[in-house]
Formats: sequence, C-alpha cells, structure tokens
Amino acid sequence: MSSPELTELERLRLTPGHIERVVVLTGAGISAESGIPTFRAVDGYWSRYRPEDLATPEAFAQNPQVVWEWYLARRHTIAQADPNAGHYALVEMDKLLSGQFTLITQNVDGLHQRAGSHDLFELHGNIFINRCSLCSRRFSDEVLNFQELPPVCPSCRGAIRPDVVWFGENLNISTVEDAFTRAREATLFLSIGTSSVVHPAATLPIVAAENGAFLIEVNPELTPISEGADLSLRAPASRVLPRITEMIRTILTSTASKKLS
Ligand code: OAD
Repeated sequence: MSSPELTELERLRLTPGHIERVVVLTGAGISAESGIPTFRAVDGYWSRYRPEDLATPEAFAQNPQVVWEWYLARRHTIAQADPNAGHYALVEMDKLLSGQFTLITQNVDGLHQRAGSHDLFELHGNIFINRCSLCSRRFSDEVLNFQELPPVCPSCRGAIRPDVVWFGENLNISTVEDAFTRAREATLFLSIGTSSVVHPAATLPIVAAENGAFLIEVNPELTPISEGADLSLRAPASRVLPRITEMIRTILTSTASKKLS
C-alpha cells in the first residue's frame, strides 16, 4: 500500500478505545468495484434515468412494467457480480470485533450477505425480495409469475413490487432507530462509498461524530461530510478496508498479549 492517497491511512494510529464500538455505513461505492453502477457517478443510474420515473410509488402505480423491467435488469447485473475485497474485509472486521461491530448499508444488492455478513441493517431494503403493494406479504420468486409484469400477489391479487424503499417512502422505523442508536454509541464510524446526500442515512455519520466517534470516510470523491471527518481518504474501499481490518487485528492481538503477560 504505497500510493500517495493512502499515506494518511499509514499514519493513522487507532487505539483500543477507537475500536470499542465500530459502526460502518456503506453505499453504492463499495459495490462499484464489483461492477455494479452507482447512482450519482457520471455514468451512474441517475445520469441515465430520472429517479421519479423508476424509484417512486407514483412511478410504480403509473407504469409498473417499466419499473419492474429496470429492477429485473439490475437484479441481473447484481446476480452476475461477486463481492469484492471491501465486502470481505468487513466480514473479517465483524469476526474480529464480534459484538462490537455494526454494519449498516444503503445498498439493496445483498453483496454483503453473499460475502458472509450477517445481522446487517439494510436501510433501503433488498432488491431480491418481493412484497405485495396491497397486503405487504413477501414472496419468493418461485411462487410468482414474472412472465407478466407486475407479478400478481398469490394471496390478494395486488401488484407485487420489489421490497426496496423508494423516494418519498418511509424507511422501516425500528431499523432506522436502531441504526441511530448504534451511530450515537459508536467510538469509530466508517462511512464507505456513499455520496452522503440521501437522508436519513447521511445523518448517521454526523450524529456519530457529534457524539464523539472518530469518523473515517472512504470515497474517491469529496462529499458533504468530507470536511467534518477526522480522516477522509480519497481511495477505493477495496484498498482501504482490508488495511483497516488489519489495523484492528493488530490492536486486538497486542491487547491480548498484554493481558497474558
Ligand atoms: P451514490 O451513487 O450517490 O454515491 C456513490 C459514492 O461512491 C460516490 O460518492 C462515489 O464517489 C463513491 N465511490 C465510487 N467508487 C468507489 C469505490 N471504489 N470505493 C469507495 N467509494 C466509491 O450512492 P449512495 O450514496 O449509496 O436510494 O446513494 C444513496 C441512495 O441514493 C441509494 O441507496 C439509492 C440512491 O438513490 C434509493 O434508491 C432509495
């Protein structure tokens, strides 16, 4: 790890106090290196499509077929992709820190789970889960007919939709509350691959920092939180996260050996 943008990370001295409660927030950038487009890059989804045409309840009510076609195309892209070193580094970090680690994602791609992460907060839902827009029951793909879009609910004949949060919709309240509790209690907060413009997710690092967490941002581009972060690294997640995981391992190993002697 010798590139100039990572020199600052080399200088970072994390302490046992920093890693008492680690909270990580991820966005589309962590999956960019798996080949999944982000939303706000020059070639991202929102440069080609208008969110209000594809990611709102109104769009689904007006043209559910168009909305489903876009979601099925995204599912296809995601299904072809594999988790990358950034996702795997977070699995390892979780194992090292066990009860002291929280993963919160805005991503709906399920790549964290495919890498091996469990018990994460999916703030915006999951693209592979189907939910009835009328009765809210969830169904696996196997019991639905995707030949005609939208698929029809086997229970109430309502229109099936992807179980994701669209613009103008509420997030799951208990998920959000739990995420904010963890953020407030964090000693180290990592904001990874998110443009930090969509709330409430973008408020989490701010709340964490206000409550004393050491805030590290990892993003090749500047964001609204870059200036307020304790360390803002202009580098890809796949290069930085394995390094931070190794730093945590070193701290834990040295703490354990001190306790033994
Ligand atoms: P964005 O597309 O807004 O931002 C992705 C961020 O990742 C950008 O700031 C990039 O600079 C950064 N990035 C790109 N490659 C990276 C890499 N290799 N390592 C680290 N960072 C990298 O995506 P989100 O912030 O996730 O919501 O967007 C938030 C929400 O807006 C999404 O969940 C989605 C979207 O509209 C809904 O659909 C409701």
